[in-house]
Amino acid sequence: MKERIEELRNLISEYDREYYINHRSVVSDFEYDHLYKELQKLETEFPEFYNANSPTQRVATDKITEFRNVPHDFPMLSLPNTYTLEEVDAFVDRCQKTFPDQQIKFFVELKFDGISLSLRYKNKRLNMSLTRGDGVSGDDITLNVLQIKDIPKILNNIEEDLPDEIEIRGEVIMFKHSFAEINKRQIALGQKTYANPRNLASGTLKLLDSNEVSQRPLNFFAYSLLMNGKKLFSLAKNAKIIEDLGLPVNSNHYLCSSIEEIYDIIASWEEKRDELPFFIDGLVIKVDSVSQQEEMGFVSRFPRWAIAYKYSAEQAETKLLDITYQVGRTGIVSPVAELEPVELSQTIVKRATLHNEEFIRDNDFRVGDSVFVEKGGEIIPKLVGVNFEKRSPESPEFVFTKLCPCEIKSELVKYEDEAGWYCVHPLCPSQIRKKLEHFASRNAMNIDNLGERSIDEFVTRGLLSDLSSIFELKQHRNAIAQIEGWGAKSIDNLLEGIEKSKEKPFTNVLFGLGIRYVGETVAKQLVREIGNIDKLMSLTLEELVELPQIGEKIAKSIINYFSLESNLELITKLKSFGLKFEFEQFEENQSKVLFGKTFLFTGELQSFARPAATKEVESLGGKVISSISKKLSYLIVGANPGSKLKKAQEWGLSILYEEEFIKLLEESRSGNEMDTNEDVIQNENKANEDFEPKSLFD
Ligand code: IVH
Repeated sequence: MKERIEELRNLISEYDREYYINHRSVVSDFEYDHLYKELQKLETEFPEFYNANSPTQRVATDKITEFRNVPHDFPMLSLPNTYTLEEVDAFVDRCQKTFPDQQIKFFVELKFDGISLSLRYKNKRLNMSLTRGDGVSGDDITLNVLQIKDIPKILNNIEEDLPDEIEIRGEVIMFKHSFAEINKRQIALGQKTYANPRNLASGTLKLLDSNEVSQRPLNFFAYSLLMNGKKLFSLAKNAKIIEDLGLPVNSNHYLCSSIEEIYDIIASWEEKRDELPFFIDGLVIKVDSVSQQEEMGFVSRFPRWAIAYKYSAEQAETKLLDITYQVGRTGIVSPVAELEPVELSQTIVKRATLHNEEFIRDNDFRVGDSVFVEKGGEIIPKLVGVNFEKRSPESPEFVFTKLCPCEIKSELVKYEDEAGWYCVHPLCPSQIRKKLEHFASRNAMNIDNLGERSIDEFVTRGLLSDLSSIFELKQHRNAIAQIEGWGAKSIDNLLEGIEKSKEKPFTNVLFGLGIRYVGETVAKQLVREIGNIDKLMSLTLEELVELPQIGEKIAKSIINYFSLESNLELITKLKSFGLKFEFEQFEENQSKVLFGKTFLFTGELQSFARPAATKEVESLGGKVISSISKKLSYLIVGANPGSKLKKAQEWGLSILYEEEFIKLLEESRSGNEMDTNEDVIQNENKANEDFEPKSLFD
């Protein structure tokens, strides 16, 4: 078998050389395809004959002296960029106005920060690959592209009947870990380091020696399918076709029908984006239907049917002084960057989240490094990369702790499919403190005078040990009075606050228990659907996942929580103290102060981003809509309002300027003790459920 494999490798290599360098086909595509598939099959069956130089792995080529410039079959255009939600809103409005009687769907995907590439396939075989160039013609970099493992030389056979010639476009990127690896190598060789993955990817594609390209791992994500002679239906369907053909399509894409859904995606990726193993610089929002796209057409270099929303962020460079750890209430141990204080967007940044071990490894952060810190519109500052040029060659790689940073120092564990390390010791004081803080926090039991500092003190003195011990604090009046700063009045306030918290509805209690993945929304949902804790405890996994919005992850976590004897004991105790474990009708009305009211935004809000404002309105029962109507309850006006303001004035609608809007929210909140705006923004921005963004600023 070894001989046949060798024979096939030699044949195919020769055909490749003729095809890609001399542009001659010496065998038919059919025959080539046949031989190639045979080789692929044999190599899978006999892995012992693996060879990195096999033409299925790469193409051994000669050097070329320059790239040919080749015209594009379809011009390669760019996208209009925006940094404001207002313009995204205007884009959606524009699309909707173009098709007043049609439902428009928007296909939202990541905007990869790389180099665009066009791939032409002829009879399923990669025939040519061009850079964007000036959009009209690009460089033929086929030999280099053949070294990119993500890009198939031969497409899969699929059911869809496609023309002989098709073009796929996408972005070549370099993963953060590959970039760090290459820079590590450069430092070891005493050579210059590269500035960022994008530049390195771009430089690599333009190397004249394609064998050198194979030393630098590149990846590819496809986003467009182009062809003549066949009608395409939608981007969602195209993505499926591209994937079936064997090209990588990033799975983070969404079909949206409203601006609110788009805002939600923008807000959630603003937070999550730096956890991706590669860089994105925003999101792309495209009209999904190809026929609607065709009708909308282009204006100069830009399509009218797409827009790129870019995340804006201010950057600063500072020193990573240390990496410390923070233990969350679920036991997750999160690494924190301790930074030399630096000013960024008018705040002094001293700490930033490092997410998890993988994030540190991917970026190769090391103590002593000079690092880039970024802060966008949101609250949490983040580290986005290392200035490798300033790294000392002696700096050791960072090793993530295997022990809990608390007094017990128990060994950390890792769960399948999770990036984080967990402390699972039931008596871990760090976890207990966090659990208590969460339970007493405003959106849960809202206990006055029981904040981070007092909890820390009470746990240290053994006055608090678990959630139920809060309700026994009154027996420790004298002990509390010994603590500095605790006079009779503040103790009274504390104990009163604890008594008052017993009135909190079941939703707050359930949220306060801190069951993993049971945030406020899920708690609310469970309480409405199930009604009381005994029933919730009796449900099986199958019954739980049948509930609306409860996925397997949440269901498993709930089952897990109630399977622990200590949690059952806790609930029995809390019941005996009179906490509410049953849904009461007034809970329903409580969150609906703005029920039935509609809101529409125009202009830029100064105090918070639109997704946060939308969440706020919704949390109070109101609804945010995307186009003006005579039935609108309130038009909310920010800086530089659009045409909606004039319309609202014409129609005599209620217009609220930002301050008035904030006042309305405050009044509504105090009517039903809902969360503050600060909390909403924090909740939205939580990098993980345990990380405390507040503590990153002082
Ligand atoms: S679609 C008509 N989708 O961004 C333009 N582009 O300025 C179609 N990019 O040159 C481009 N991720 O290199 C599209 N998901 C994505 C993208 C994406 C990155 C790049 C692309 C393009 C530039 C647009």
